[in-house]
Amino acid sequence: MPAFAGQTPPSAARRASSPPALLGRLVPRSVLGLARLATARGHELRSCATLLVASALAVAAGCHRDWRTDMWYQPAVRSGDAVRPQPPDSIPLGAEASLADRDEAEPLVNPVAVSPTSLERGRALFASRCAPCHGAEGHGGGPVSRLFPPAPDLAYFAVKARSDGYLWGTITFGGKAMPSQREGLTVSDRWDLVNHVRHLQSRGAGRSPSP
Ligand code: HEC
Repeated sequence: MPAFAGQTPPSAARRASSPPALLGRLVPRSVLGLARLATARGHELRSCATLLVASALAVAAGCHRDWRTDMWYQPAVRSGDAVRPQPPDSIPLGAEASLADRDEAEPLVNPVAVSPTSLERGRALFASRCAPCHGAEGHGGGPVSRLFPPAPDLAYFAVKARSDGYLWGTITFGGKAMPSQREGLTVSDRWDLVNHVRHLQSRGAGRSPSP
């Protein structure tokens, strides 16, 4: 089967016991037996044997076609055979808008509604990604702040006054000193973080005076 050279068929065992192979093994034995009979019993039998051999061959020839109907055995483009061209103006699933910097993100509207699920995800991400600098409650004083430019209290009024898009942009692109937190966070992860920061802000003023 040259069309599928190099491919591993899913069931080689099935192929071994397929009808043509079985006939191939059975036909020669019966033909031999019939031929012996023919020499022993005479002319009529010989012609009968010829007839049988001819019909056996015809059946075997008819069996030559591949009966398998599963879709593996068909002309196909296997995954990885060729790079499929991307249609023009198409955007990969899950791709985010291409923004140059935080300022471009400022007008974005938060598409993720505040919900227990979003807040819970935001809380978990905040604990691992932001708390080391901004503190567990977001009011500054995280352990990294001792070695780094101090991270501000996120409940400070100037931060409260920022748009959701600006907060999302800060997480995505970083700030003057804050490193970008985009890596490993999906678009909606970052909106969950914004929702959590809003939640922290709603819980009252913090300690440090300015961002
Ligand atoms: C390595 C320390 C560090 C980490 C981690 C960090 N920040 Fe910051 N962040 C800072 C510092 C320092 C500033 C103030 C200077 C600046 O804007 O870069 C800041 C500023 C901010 C501001 C205020 C921006 C403004 O101009 O009003 C927000 C909002 C903020 N961070 C959110 C977050 C969130 C949310 C996370 C977690 C996803 C996070 N930060 C992770 C250090 C950090």
